[in-house]
Amino acid sequence: MKKILITGGAGFIGSHVVRLFVNKYSGYQIFNLDKLTYAGNLANLKDIENKPNYTFIKGDIVDSEFISKLFSEHKFDAVIHLAAESHVDRSISNPLEFVMTNVIGTVNLLNAAKTIWQPSTGNNGRFYHVSTDEVYGTLGETGLFTEATAYDPHSPYSASKASSDHFVRAYHDTFRIDIVISNCSNNYGSYHFPEKLIPLSIYNIKNSKPIPVYGKGENIRDWLFVEDHARAIDVIFHKAKSGTTYNIGGHNEWTNIDLIRLLCKIMDKKLNRAEGESAKLITFVKDRAGHDLRYAIDSTKLQKELGWTPSLQFEEGLEKTVEWFLSNEEWLNNVTSGEYKKYYEEQYTKR
Ligand code: NAD
Ligand code: DAU
Repeated sequence: MKKILITGGAGFIGSHVVRLFVNKYSGYQIFNLDKLTYAGNLANLKDIENKPNYTFIKGDIVDSEFISKLFSEHKFDAVIHLAAESHVDRSISNPLEFVMTNVIGTVNLLNAAKTIWQPSTGNNGRFYHVSTDEVYGTLGETGLFTEATAYDPHSPYSASKASSDHFVRAYHDTFRIDIVISNCSNNYGSYHFPEKLIPLSIYNIKNSKPIPVYGKGENIRDWLFVEDHARAIDVIFHKAKSGTTYNIGGHNEWTNIDLIRLLCKIMDKKLNRAEGESAKLITFVKDRAGHDLRYAIDSTKLQKELGWTPSLQFEEGLEKTVEWFLSNEEWLNNVTSGEYKKYYEEQYTKR
């Protein structure tokens, strides 16, 4: 049985990746390593927690001694690395935490992998690093990010992800570790933590709170349904050549304000409100510092070489997502209490 370590599996995207791998591959023993920060939540994986091919390990990737012991105990055959600090606004308030988890944490995992795999002796595992399109910086009105686009990160978050991508490639070039990297656009779907634009807006509309729109709402993001991202990771993990990179995206660009207006329309219907009622909650607030104008992904390489395509149209995916949040009130109430509530109120009063 192959032992696969997935890091960050109790977060948003990681939980979808863990679920997919546990359900699809009974021949893999899936180890989910997560520190369970404010963004990690074991309730995200309730449906698979008792499966025989699933093991949860609570731990911090920044703790090099713990990581090195874990690897020598389990001798993992492969790593799919998603654990990270992931929210741009938090990286502006606390950049060092992003350096620690995203850079040092990644290097700790690479060092431990290098020790157990010893690629120079011909023994090798696969280190799959899950990264973001934000490493490419921002686009103007035209053009798309390709795998050849130069890195140009602008936020402490994207700088930390860019740095970790460079380390992963350096360990391939220097130590011959078998690596793959994917850079994906904005995800949305179930279990999305409600500090990010879509789930935060759903939560606020539901509770008749203001929907904070940064600047004029003209920034553009390229949205992909999270289960399509998980499927892409599956395909890349199994089929990509060592040392390669793939961009993942849905060719689905929306300005923030248009997206929020669509969301308000969907929510009016689902909540039996008069059309236009939720849109009254839209509130323009101070812009994010260093706010990238536009992200858009060219995923031709992934589609042509590995045959992946997104499965859902955005309108359908967004409606499905709204339905999920409305029927999972307990999950939403749990994650919006405690530490998150304090942070959110602090951010909100600052604006
Ligand atoms: P998330 O914030 O929802 O989850 C991150 C998970 O990592 C949490 O479960 C958290 O507990 C865990 N974690 C954080 N620090 C840790 C540490 N020191 N040790 C162990 N675990 C730790 O993030 P997400 O949105 O699911 O993103 C997952 C990955 O995908 C990240 O690497 C992110 O950069 C990348 N990504 C995200 C998006 C997106 O739209 N959300 C798009 C492209 C790429
Ligand atoms: O592109 C991939 C990235 O997408 C991932 O690497 C990140 O982990 C993920 O958080 C996401 O980053 P963004 O900054 O694009 O996502 P966020 O949901 O924070 O913001 C989306 C857009 O909406 C962005 O232009 C900022 C704006 N925004 C965000 C929030 C939270 C608002 O206007 N109001 C808000 O309250």
